[in-house]
Amino acid sequence: MDIAKKSRSAIYLVSGIAALAGLLFGFDTGIISGALLFVEKDFVLSTAAKEFIVSSVLLGAMFGSLASGRLTDRYGRRGILLIISGLFITGTLIATLAHQVASIILGRLIIGVAIGIGSYTAPLYIAETAPFELRGGLVSFNQLAITIGIMCSYFIDFAFTDTAGSWRWMFAIGIIPAVLLFVGLFFLPESPRWLVKQGDVAKAKATLQKLRNSADVNLELREIENSLNTRKVSFKEIFSAWIRPVLFLGIMLGFLQQVTGINTIIYYAPTIFQMAGFESASSSIFATIGVGIVNVLSTVFAVYFLDKVGRRPLLLWGLVGMGLSLAALSLAFRFSDGGGALQWAAVVSTFIYIICFAFSLGAMLWLMVSEIFPLEVRGAAMGVAVFSCWFWNFVVSSTFLTLLNAIGPSNAFLLYASMCAFAFVYCFLQVPETSGVSLEQIEANIRKRLPLREIGQPILTSSPSTASEMSG
Ligand code: BGC
Repeated sequence: MDIAKKSRSAIYLVSGIAALAGLLFGFDTGIISGALLFVEKDFVLSTAAKEFIVSSVLLGAMFGSLASGRLTDRYGRRGILLIISGLFITGTLIATLAHQVASIILGRLIIGVAIGIGSYTAPLYIAETAPFELRGGLVSFNQLAITIGIMCSYFIDFAFTDTAGSWRWMFAIGIIPAVLLFVGLFFLPESPRWLVKQGDVAKAKATLQKLRNSADVNLELREIENSLNTRKVSFKEIFSAWIRPVLFLGIMLGFLQQVTGINTIIYYAPTIFQMAGFESASSSIFATIGVGIVNVLSTVFAVYFLDKVGRRPLLLWGLVGMGLSLAALSLAFRFSDGGGALQWAAVVSTFIYIICFAFSLGAMLWLMVSEIFPLEVRGAAMGVAVFSCWFWNFVVSSTFLTLLNAIGPSNAFLLYASMCAFAFVYCFLQVPETSGVSLEQIEANIRKRLPLREIGQPILTSSPSTASEMSG
């Protein structure tokens, strides 16, 4: 299908507005790295309280992601995005106007619920409204929005360091994308796939005609109807024998994305840079902006090369780079006398780590969880994998400062480096190459019970005997 220019701009607009949920995910998780330095000036905070301020968002996100599947099925994708934009606005107002630590935590919990639901719903909505030719790129567009949100949060942190009540301003700016999402959603259609599921085929048809800028959408509509004609499955079925291996893979990818330490940097970078000798809050936040920029640039690289180079090379080389840079950071903290050399070693190794994460585990998790699950269980299984990511994010971020106090930065980073080594071995043995194959091929291979590593293989059309003759 040739995608007309007008329909292309419509779909970019629709995806762009939905990806504002990704931008809010990045902004609201990133903003805390700088804001924390100022919140602790206004309130007396124990280590546990600081960790809780950072991780309350994650706790909310865990619950949000668990509820997402049911909510989006019942209220519609667009309906749920509308609700979460309201949650973003409410949570931000509570945190911004807080006079007690408890209100900051409450506000951030609400924001977290919105992030958790949004991290599931936005890619789903984009995938369901996009024409299939553009789907891969548009799904990764969501990860790009996350990194842009993180980068913006660092700029805002920097811009407001010298302003009175700085942390309130830092939180408050989050209202802008939330309002844009809210207003933008009034111009977006409901997902045609969801409408068909609700039995409203006429509305689904009209929506598709608008989205594709064409009256001739019968083929696509029939495909949607056929794909939904699969039997209804219960949640329990995601644990059935043929699905278990891919479910485990999704859970492991969520686990590995987090235990290799990404958010110790994303949420605590200014704290780490201060430990490495950057004295003022503004200079360490300035170094953190560099982290935000390289994260975005490296994600652009990933979006461009994922399909060309393939998932596995990027993933495996990225993990090597992540492990080595964390080991270097660990050595820098161990052997440096705290002078300028440590500062630069910390900055350089952190940058290399972020670049490697962005083109490997960063882009891969969200892409792979939308690829590896068979259609009939995709929603529920994806929810479990996304939950695993938020759960481990919570565990790592809420223990990082305690870990630093208990074993020091050098050992802490060595621990994350060893998780990278484990991740490398696991991914080398288990992660399939999924580029260049359709989702239906992947599903057919899973049904044939091929080993995980092989589920991304194109289906061989030749008979087994011919195939074995050819391979000698
Ligand atoms: C991860 C987040 C992380 C972000 C950094 C995302 O893929 O899920 O936890 O903060 O990447 O860019």
